[in-house]
Amino acid sequence: MACFFRRRIAAKLGRTLQQSEDAFIPALSAVPVFKKQQGADFKLSISTLRISGILPSTGDIQLQTEHLATRLKQDSVVEDISAGCGIINFKVNRKLLVQKMLEPFGKEEDDKFGLNSELFNTLKKGTTLVEYSSPNIAKKFHAGHLRSTIIGNFIANLKQCLGNNVIRMNYLGDWGMQFGLLGAGFAQFGCQEKLKENPLQHLFEVYVQVNKEAEHNEDMKQAARDFFRQLEQHDNEAVSLWQQFREITVDEYQQVYKRLGVHFDVYSGESFHQHQAQEVVQQLQSRDLLKTSEKGTGVVDLSTSGDTSSVCTVLRSDGTTLYITRDLAAAIDRKEKYNFNEMIYVTDKSQANHFRQLFHILLAMGHSWADRCKHVPFGLVRGMKTRKGEVVFLEDVLDEARARMLHNMSQSKTTKEMDNPEDTAEKVGISALIVQDFRGPLQSDYKFDWDRMLQAQGDTGVFLQYTHARLSSLMRRNDGVKAVAFDPSLLLEQTSITILQHLLRYDEVLYQSAQDLQPKHLVNFLLKLCHLIASAHRELPVKGSAQDVAQVGRESLKYISISLFLNVPSTLLNTLMNILKNKHIG
Ligand code: ARG
Repeated sequence: MACFFRRRIAAKLGRTLQQSEDAFIPALSAVPVFKKQQGADFKLSISTLRISGILPSTGDIQLQTEHLATRLKQDSVVEDISAGCGIINFKVNRKLLVQKMLEPFGKEEDDKFGLNSELFNTLKKGTTLVEYSSPNIAKKFHAGHLRSTIIGNFIANLKQCLGNNVIRMNYLGDWGMQFGLLGAGFAQFGCQEKLKENPLQHLFEVYVQVNKEAEHNEDMKQAARDFFRQLEQHDNEAVSLWQQFREITVDEYQQVYKRLGVHFDVYSGESFHQHQAQEVVQQLQSRDLLKTSEKGTGVVDLSTSGDTSSVCTVLRSDGTTLYITRDLAAAIDRKEKYNFNEMIYVTDKSQANHFRQLFHILLAMGHSWADRCKHVPFGLVRGMKTRKGEVVFLEDVLDEARARMLHNMSQSKTTKEMDNPEDTAEKVGISALIVQDFRGPLQSDYKFDWDRMLQAQGDTGVFLQYTHARLSSLMRRNDGVKAVAFDPSLLLEQTSITILQHLLRYDEVLYQSAQDLQPKHLVNFLLKLCHLIASAHRELPVKGSAQDVAQVGRESLKYISISLFLNVPSTLLNTLMNILKNKHIG
């Protein structure tokens, strides 16, 4: 779609400046649309050409711009060329714009629609391991885990649709002293029946109770230490209780992940790496990286690598390993097992230092692939509450989103009869959660706001889903209309052109998200697209049934053309929404 025009303009530049056309591709971009002003479609950045050495970097940039603009000649594809402020604008032939944008339609599989842009050729492909969600057994599933789940899913989907082999991994907090407490506490407060009935709830209750008890009861503390030691020594009984806790937790989570459209290829966890963690300590020792601190703990000095918090503890004085030691072991193990080209960890920003230290130690151990490990940090969510109060379980957030959406639907006059309103409310509610989360930079904190996120009109997931459903219903009504009936000359109104101009940016937007792993580019692109489609619904005559309009000649052709044309944003919306999440209505 956009490639055709970008190529043509690059070729023109290449001929004029006697350079390879490829050199111009990075300096060309589609012009973002504002309101309904009629304008150029592509712009060329002169400063980018100066930086890349194609144009001399000295001299007046404006003169350079104007001079180059006058040397470029119009042709049948590029109709207008003009100099702006440090940029050159290109306007392409309108009919061709309509035609070319519609070309891939019907030829590509729907879920790959628009994903074969040449822009993506420069992206490295290979195996990407994305680790996300990673809750802790028996502890609270907080807003940070929800963010990690949906952001990680987005990154995994994005990488996958760009042709990578993606491994989706959940790294459970399934080891450590909390299991000592849980094991000891279960003997006193636990109940197998309740565990079967509502496992997450019950484990959490036991965990809270035993923690309270251990605050003032030395025996309880001792029992917890004993239980954890038994676990570490593979005592059968202790291990089988631990296993039971882990299995039922994973089963429960899988149900909830399914509602979110999220899945994992691997459920790993800290427990898998306790032995390897000891091996890592030995390796550190043999490389002379391990020092003993005054307190008797094992530490790695990171001051040479420029880390501010220069020492990192990897071994307790009692010889047990820590969170970071298990992470070191886990990373090495994953590299051996999956031979990934890159690994991405998604957690809140409070763990940024942890991951910096992790990558530094791996590098110091000689694992140069640690350069290709990345931490994607995100900010805090304030005030995520449901009617029950503070959120403890992910399920409660999803239930609340569904209930509120169902309520809004019942209040709205435009809601149509549907077979399964709960299912629709669930899908739309989850979109609303995701879009609220993805609109800004991931690093920013934000306030969780049910009312705002569920508005049908604002920039919300609800608006996205409604637009999609409306387009889908239009498509259904026109099922069977053939692309041959399509006449581009009937689509030259500014409303259609603006949509096409906006669509010219889609591959750049995806490219941007692929570069910085931020969903905001994609989300804001989609929201803008939905606004433009809303104008198209108002201004283009697509209302009514095909029979109404299909009386004679031009009107019916126009109707068909517009319907087919709207198939493009609809299909693209579909593809892109699939990257954000996995389910939509319509
Ligand atoms: N379970 C951890 C927590 O809830 C997150 C794990 C992140 N991943 C990792 N490899 N350390 O804070």
